Amino acid sequence: MGMANIDVFFKPSSIAVIGASKTPGKIGYAILENLKHSFKGQIYPINPTCTEILGLQVFPTVKDVEDKIDLAVIAVPANIVRKVVEECIKKKIRGIIIISSGFSEIGEKGLELVLEKLKEKIRIIGPNCIGTFVPNHLDMLFLDGKKLKRPSEGSIGLITHSGAVGSALIDLASNEGIGISKFASIGNRVDVDEVELLEYLGKDVNTRCIVMYIESTKRGQDLINTAKKITKPIVAIKAGKTDKGEQAVASHTGAMAGSGEIYKTAFKQAGIIEAETIEDLFDYSKALASQPLLKGNKIAVLTNGGGLGIIATDIAIKEGLDIIDISKETEKALKKIMPSYASSKNPVDITGDANSERYRKAIDILMKDKEINGMVCITLFQTPTLDDDIIDVLRDAKMYGKPFVICATGGEYTLERAKKLEKFGIPTYTTPGRAVRAMRCLLDYSKINK
Ligand code: COA
Repeated sequence: MGMANIDVFFKPSSIAVIGASKTPGKIGYAILENLKHSFKGQIYPINPTCTEILGLQVFPTVKDVEDKIDLAVIAVPANIVRKVVEECIKKKIRGIIIISSGFSEIGEKGLELVLEKLKEKIRIIGPNCIGTFVPNHLDMLFLDGKKLKRPSEGSIGLITHSGAVGSALIDLASNEGIGISKFASIGNRVDVDEVELLEYLGKDVNTRCIVMYIESTKRGQDLINTAKKITKPIVAIKAGKTDKGEQAVASHTGAMAGSGEIYKTAFKQAGIIEAETIEDLFDYSKALASQPLLKGNKIAVLTNGGGLGIIATDIAIKEGLDIIDISKETEKALKKIMPSYASSKNPVDITGDANSERYRKAIDILMKDKEINGMVCITLFQTPTLDDDIIDVLRDAKMYGKPFVICATGGEYTLERAKKLEKFGIPTYTTPGRAVRAMRCLLDYSKINK
């Protein structure tokens, strides 16, 4: 199956919504509403019981639409999915996304088998999924934009077996200012699966890092081989690693989970970075998508708050990073730009009265030091001497071509500034531990031979 087949799920010219509902609050209504606000191509609502929804002409079936339809999104009860899929095949629609639940995840293997046979004639995502999403272009999610915010365009591609995890990731990404390239929730996977989408995102020019939430795979070796060939970082979280977790997977998408150990080994073999938690997924991927590799383990910690610098130091050492002893020359240069009560030893503490200029000079001295491979920069935005010029100073640290991550701990005021930095491609974390582990992940990826 060629990649052009998959394109239809992300770049259709026309879409039918089968089961578009006239009733606000129903899934088929929400899908149509979100598509109407995001999609610039033709939309054909399909529903035999009415003639107009949201100002759009409604057709009883896809066969009643004269024009060509690229993609159909299906949100009718499971027992009538087969009938509407067959109509889609007759209409020569290239791809369908089946949102409907009620298949193998509840033991209805027969209904799912029927779909599996139809995949020879049409490409299928789902059933039991929330479909695809491309910021500003394609939004078929049935989740209200006020309750679940959408992220802006960016370079992280997301593949998820779980619609709930996927939608939560979308909301989190938006909240943290992390941009997404493409998103696909693939549910029970009667046809298009994680391997094919991985290959697709591997070739997608807008995607720099791929994130996967994976519960199981029927194509373990293909997954490994495909991942090995992809020269972009892949971060994956495997759910269902314990006995009880495996049972939960079976009743979620009807699939066998496979042991956590097998996946751990497979991920290693495939050069996939494993995330243990949801936080890790974005913590790692946003660093991998925006930063150069950490070429050695020697890092500098720069801070305007002593305690946070010490926490970062302890965690860095535990994570296998080296808090390098700064050379005499660099120390001398640092001493010239900071007060006598500041510390020019690593972690370098430029103290709570540091202004943007002191940060700029300290970053310049440390990043130009050839022995230092990367920097964790801790910035307490709340101090009286820091104004918003600091954002430009931190953004400019990109020019040194070395990994640079920020720890900014705090509430609303801090989060607003962190979001701005994310938009400039500077990964920003709320705790020293998260920032340090993201830095370690850049080292891990540099050791993966791709
Ligand atoms: N073609 C097109 N539309 C049809 C149809 C047909 N052959 N037959 C019925 N419809 C219309 C219905 O009239 C209804 O529109 P209306 O509200 O304007 O009357 C609409 O399709 C939906 O049908 P309805 O019977 O009301 O179903 P529903 O909205 O209660 O439930 C699903 C349908 C798909 C939402 C539900 O079965 C389901 O699967 N829910 C779970 C979805 C989910 O969680 N997915 C996985 C996420 S991870």
